[in-house]
Amino acid sequence: MKTDDLIIKKRDNKELTKEEIDYLVQGYTKGDIPDYQISAFLMAAFLNGMTQVETANLTQSMVNSGETLDLSSISGIKVDKHSTGGVGDKTTLTLGPLVASAGLNVAKMSGRGLGHTGGTIDKLEAFQGLKIDLTMDDFVDRVNKHNIAIVGQTKDLAPADGKLYALRDVTGTVDSIPLIASSIMSKKLAAGTDAIVLDVKVGKGAFMQTLDDAIALGHEMVNIGDNLGRKTIAVISDMDQPLGKNVGNALEVIEAIDTLKGQGPKDFEDLCLHLGANLLLLGEKVETLQQGRNLLQQKITNGEALEKFEELIKVQNGDYRAIHDNSKLPTPKHSKTLKASTQGYISSLDARKVGLACVNLGAGRKTKEDEIDLSVGVELLKKTGDKVKKDEPIAKIWYNEEQKLNDALPVLDISYEISEQPTEDKHLIYGMIT
Ligand code: URA
Repeated sequence: MKTDDLIIKKRDNKELTKEEIDYLVQGYTKGDIPDYQISAFLMAAFLNGMTQVETANLTQSMVNSGETLDLSSISGIKVDKHSTGGVGDKTTLTLGPLVASAGLNVAKMSGRGLGHTGGTIDKLEAFQGLKIDLTMDDFVDRVNKHNIAIVGQTKDLAPADGKLYALRDVTGTVDSIPLIASSIMSKKLAAGTDAIVLDVKVGKGAFMQTLDDAIALGHEMVNIGDNLGRKTIAVISDMDQPLGKNVGNALEVIEAIDTLKGQGPKDFEDLCLHLGANLLLLGEKVETLQQGRNLLQQKITNGEALEKFEELIKVQNGDYRAIHDNSKLPTPKHSKTLKASTQGYISSLDARKVGLACVNLGAGRKTKEDEIDLSVGVELLKKTGDKVKKDEPIAKIWYNEEQKLNDALPVLDISYEISEQPTEDKHLIYGMIT
């Protein structure tokens, strides 16, 4: 096989075989095929798209490029949930313990934030001492004993994706539905769970800006999961405005805890109950979604969901006292209130801009190597649809450094739009792909 022949085949919009895709992926992972040839292949795939069979073969080849986790010693159905990324998305922190308290096995591999989006691992590190790099034996052992463990993504799983993603990032080939779908699913499949619930975000703060694209991505990922023998469903949910009220690592931990106590923001609680009920259904713990919601609601009311979170933090060596005492989390020195410039209704709250304002505060990274400040962030006092008076507080910014506040304030300011007329209620959940 010759690499240039395969590039030409893809350029001419002909379907590549399993063996041909494997040749490219394994050759690139080993360093036998140079960046410039794979860049050309990626651009051809970006422009011409990939068939469902090609996308499934690409995914499987990326899974085969590294290790896979063997979770077979964990009894019962193992579930995973994955969000395509957003702002204020602290779902794993609440959803993981919530469904684990209902007896489901949650074996979760999570990532760090990059760009305007946050990541579960950064948020968890707001608990002092918490260990996220467990050995695989410890990981399996903890799921067996506690129904839940959360670890950082290892480089050994789907290493081809790491290399390909870095190349896509600098060759204008990130925003391709088959390439995104295979990238996400290769990591999920290598992580070894039986059932996967995907939360596909749509809107200003998401990869997918339109509902049509989000639905197409959802279908692509569900097809890959089905083709490769994992029960997979996708929920399409809003990321036009941030999820919940708090954005920033320790602030999001506080909101996740509040939600486990039944005192969280309604949109965030609703999404957790919806995703959680679907996980329970896939994990065969309930027979209907309504039963799932009722069971989860019961676990919140009787305190077992919060206890499970405490157990998770404790066994991963984190300072679990922070669950009942927020002062044990990283705390910012100052706060500043942003006020409404005029009276009216919030017609838009741009999630991407809120995320970028938080990056400017130091809550997120501009490059992978950046150190982040876990304490800073934004509390959104008003969200889309809310009525405001002129000069009424609409957001509170928690910060440590004046310069960073000055960088963040103008970006946060333009993330709000106020109109004279009431705005329509925003959708939270647009639909599901099964
Ligand atoms: N997340 C991923 O893991 N891969 C992509 O390509 C996009 C988002």
